[in-house]
Amino acid sequence: MTPRWIATGLSQDLPKAVVMAGHWQGHDLAVWRSATGRLQAWNDRCPHRGMRLSHGFVRGETLACIYHGWVYGADGGCKHIPAHPALTPPATITVASFACVEQDGVIWVAPADMAGAPPVLSDLQPLRSISLTCDVAAVLAAEPALQGQDILRATVQIGEQGQQVCLVAQEGPAGLTLHALCGVGADKVAVSRWVEDLRRRAEMKVAA
Ligand code: FES
Repeated sequence: MTPRWIATGLSQDLPKAVVMAGHWQGHDLAVWRSATGRLQAWNDRCPHRGMRLSHGFVRGETLACIYHGWVYGADGGCKHIPAHPALTPPATITVASFACVEQDGVIWVAPADMAGAPPVLSDLQPLRSISLTCDVAAVLAAEPALQGQDILRATVQIGEQGQQVCLVAQEGPAGLTLHALCGVGADKVAVSRWVEDLRRRAEMKVAA
């Protein structure tokens, strides 16, 4: 599979000092924002005994594992082991990190050595993320006006007006997530309802 930037959430859903689970092409991630707003995406596995770091908690500029409390700094290195408070943890205890970029209200993840930048969606505003129990093909079948593969776009008739809609697709172990954006100035409530209706129509395509 060709490495590429994949959306793993919307900026508005990850406030400061919060960690959440994310995914990149089969890899589970801990995506977290420090107390000052620094964004990171790490392998979701504590180097100690493998607990998910997305179950941990942010303390200032560090992320602590919920199991035995090992603390990891911004560079991914272990900084503190509560059971051995006088010990300076070896530099080899490090969490693997991914490239993580926030752009146009979307959080994008790629391998650490990824070249290039994520897609630009500057003509849009973030709306919401929604989970589906179907794949992208079912979404396209439900709404033929949508064009694209990872980024589905269309101008659709919602009420009296044509509205710009953009759905950024993220495949994960639990199914498909669509990160929805709409045109600046669009009726966000109406577009949000349209996205929910699209989910129903797409999931019915699978059930049919
Ligand atoms: S598993 Fe994370 S500190 Fe032990």
